[in-house]
Amino acid sequence: MSESNPITQQAANEAVDLALAAFAAATTSAELKQARAEHAGDGSPIARLNAKMREVPKELKAETGKFMGQARGRIEGAYKQREAELAEKEAAERLIAETVDVTEAPVRRTTGTRHPLAQLQDEIGDVFIGMGWEIAEGPELEHEWYNFDALGFDPDHPARAMQDTFFVDPPERHLLLRTHTSPVQVRSLLDRELPLYVIAPGRVYRTDELDATHTPVFHQVEGIAIDKGLTMAHLRGTLEHFARQMFGDEAKIRLRPNFFPFTEPSAEMDVWQPNAKGGARWVEWGGCGMVDPNELLAAGIDPDEYQGFAFGMGIERTLQFRHDLNDMRDMVEGDIRFNRQFGGLV
Ligand code: DAH
Repeated sequence: MSESNPITQQAANEAVDLALAAFAAATTSAELKQARAEHAGDGSPIARLNAKMREVPKELKAETGKFMGQARGRIEGAYKQREAELAEKEAAERLIAETVDVTEAPVRRTTGTRHPLAQLQDEIGDVFIGMGWEIAEGPELEHEWYNFDALGFDPDHPARAMQDTFFVDPPERHLLLRTHTSPVQVRSLLDRELPLYVIAPGRVYRTDELDATHTPVFHQVEGIAIDKGLTMAHLRGTLEHFARQMFGDEAKIRLRPNFFPFTEPSAEMDVWQPNAKGGARWVEWGGCGMVDPNELLAAGIDPDEYQGFAFGMGIERTLQFRHDLNDMRDMVEGDIRFNRQFGGLV
């Protein structure tokens, strides 16, 4: 009588059946991997049977080894087949999930536009860069000395009064929000080499209520040129060129005597706007003049050697004239429908 075999064909078949059932029940690659670990890995029924191989009597070893090998082969084969099935199924599902319906109406994204004031500021910069000028900047939080004293405003000049100027606490620091771009004249005179040709566009502040014709924050562009032998004729020529670039070839300028504490002589400048909507007209555009010798002296420049001119105008006003706008609030509110009319899509 042969000795009994600790590994029976029936036990091997049961281990195979369990494995095959587990593989068939797996519905994802991840579940299948888990089933493989449980039914073909260490500690699985088939592995535990295999571990008894050492106890199999010699004469049964060949036969047992054969059916155990077949059992492992069936498990491995079933795994491979299920793995392929699931991979195919998952790839198909992925394709469906990623389907693009090319007939679907696109979501329209509305793009913003650059603000018309920013566009105009760039355009002004280009006009002057085209003449070889440079662009200068100065701080919006400015020292009273640059904004007023260095420009010849007396300590009791009405422009310093509380109703015009935003002074910034504490008062002993003498800081304010600049009321015009003219302090950049002084900064340029102190910082830059001569000869000097700069414009300074930027934001300025005054204590006005926002209404159709006022805004407490607006923009100006300042210009200053210092060189040997500059005269009022250079000022006129420069401004006339600028006016033509802004308002068309037929534009011209007119100077009316005025007073500014930092220019002598000083003038109010009007521009003849040939293409205005309601017909050609003169409009008041800005201030200008020959730089006061005292301002040059304050910056350590000899007024007998160097002379110059300066000008300043509002960028909002320029935009208003060019496009016949009558409510300043449109420029402040940032309604995209207003901005879009000026192009400048980004
Ligand atoms: N800063 C003046 C203002 O805000 C404008 C101005 C006038 C600027 C004459 C100038 C100038 O450079 O020469 O009203």
